Amino acid sequence: MSTIIKGGTLVTESDSFKADVVINGGIIAAIGRNFTPDPGTEVVDARGKFVMPGGIDAHVHFQLPFCGTVSSDDFENGTKAAACGGVTTIIDYAIQVKGRPVMEAVENRRAEAEGKVCIDYSLHAGMTDWNEKSPRDMERLVEYGIPTIKMFMIYKAQGWMADDYMLYSALEETAKCGAMIELHAESVFVMEGLIERYHKDYRRLGAWGHALSRPSFVEEEAVQRAIKWAEVTGGRVYIVHMSAGASANAVKAGQERGVNVYAETCPQYLLLDESVFKRKDGHLYATCPQIKKKEDSARLWQGVINGDVSLITTDTCTFNKKQKARWGGDFTKIPYGLPGVENMVPLMYTYGVGKKRFSLNRFVQLVSANPARLHGLYPRKGTLNIGSDADLVVFDPGSKFTIRPGRLQTNCDWSPYDGWKLTGYPAMTFSRGRLVARSGKFVGTVGAGKFVARAPWGSIEGRIKR
Ligand code: URP
Ligand code: ZN
Ligand code: ZN
Repeated sequence: MSTIIKGGTLVTESDSFKADVVINGGIIAAIGRNFTPDPGTEVVDARGKFVMPGGIDAHVHFQLPFCGTVSSDDFENGTKAAACGGVTTIIDYAIQVKGRPVMEAVENRRAEAEGKVCIDYSLHAGMTDWNEKSPRDMERLVEYGIPTIKMFMIYKAQGWMADDYMLYSALEETAKCGAMIELHAESVFVMEGLIERYHKDYRRLGAWGHALSRPSFVEEEAVQRAIKWAEVTGGRVYIVHMSAGASANAVKAGQERGVNVYAETCPQYLLLDESVFKRKDGHLYATCPQIKKKEDSARLWQGVINGDVSLITTDTCTFNKKQKARWGGDFTKIPYGLPGVENMVPLMYTYGVGKKRFSLNRFVQLVSANPARLHGLYPRKGTLNIGSDADLVVFDPGSKFTIRPGRLQTNCDWSPYDGWKLTGYPAMTFSRGRLVARSGKFVGTVGAGKFVARAPWGSIEGRIKR
């Protein structure tokens, strides 16, 4: 089936120009002007709109068993929500159960996703063990199409934590096979000590105890240490959900020394600050790492603008009010995580392009091209090339949208951005040429998404397009 998207302004990370896009068999078949559509071709009017590559959210946790419950957006609803918000590919996590083969986690997670996902997806593999077989396991993952390995410097209780030697050893291997370590960087011993200290007073502190127990240096120190291990091994490290300004300084310094270090941040670290934990419903905002100070947000914005932060993701891990109520007043018992995948593209447009922080091209680079490049999806995804998957968004820059939980597809009865007014919203989202969402409503087919194998050695050359 053919579709032609006519009259829009095509926007990639490098160009903006008026052209029509012809889609055939799920692929971009032609880009140009004045095509005469064949009979039966569906014609989409994109006049006054941008046509951009679909968003890629490289950090989501759908139906994740975590903190005694399971995140409330499953693969079906999470990918519907993604489509409604202009995201056409998500990358979730398959986390190895300690002592079990990592490939088993991958196959299990794929079994959970297949037949449910409504857009394309991939997985990062969480490695929680390291032994003499692990280098080969990493190579196998790369051959399979999973070149990104998640490691956590915390989460002892979940059995996910990697110690420094494990991280060091894994980084050595990435230098050989082109994998990349996606790292949750927080300094476990100091963090746990502070949690214990503030927990003594948890009744009085409430959700504020969460903020007090994870100061910025808890992340910064772990980021510095990881960069050191990447530097001495020549390995490839990627800091996930970077939340502290000082961490951005460390990443920038590492990049300037030629270390293979990249970082993502998320809308919650740019747009919110720790004052949320003083609210009556402050516990809802608890995520890990937690939202930090205004100065941290300002430094992260600077990083997003100047290139020390390479991309935006959301770390979606949705918990509704009932699930969050499990905390019962104790900040150590809050299910950590926030909804987000549905809001990433329009929030970054409104607060990035709309507030004149960065260009339209940098916006596309942050939410689509760089996630694709770093995660081995480019140029199949992340751009509008002939031969690329027809994953695209017809984006209406004039459309007004007020965020309300009831208006979102996300399976959540609250939103960190409730009442926020956006200007610019996805009018239509196409996944491999199929219309999957229109004006924020899902219109696609459940189970039509596919697993996408990714290539190793993902990188970005010029880190920034202004
Ligand atoms: O609080 C969060 N982010 N939950 C998901 C797990 C993680 O650390 O990313
Ligand atoms: Zn994490
Ligand atoms: Zn996460």
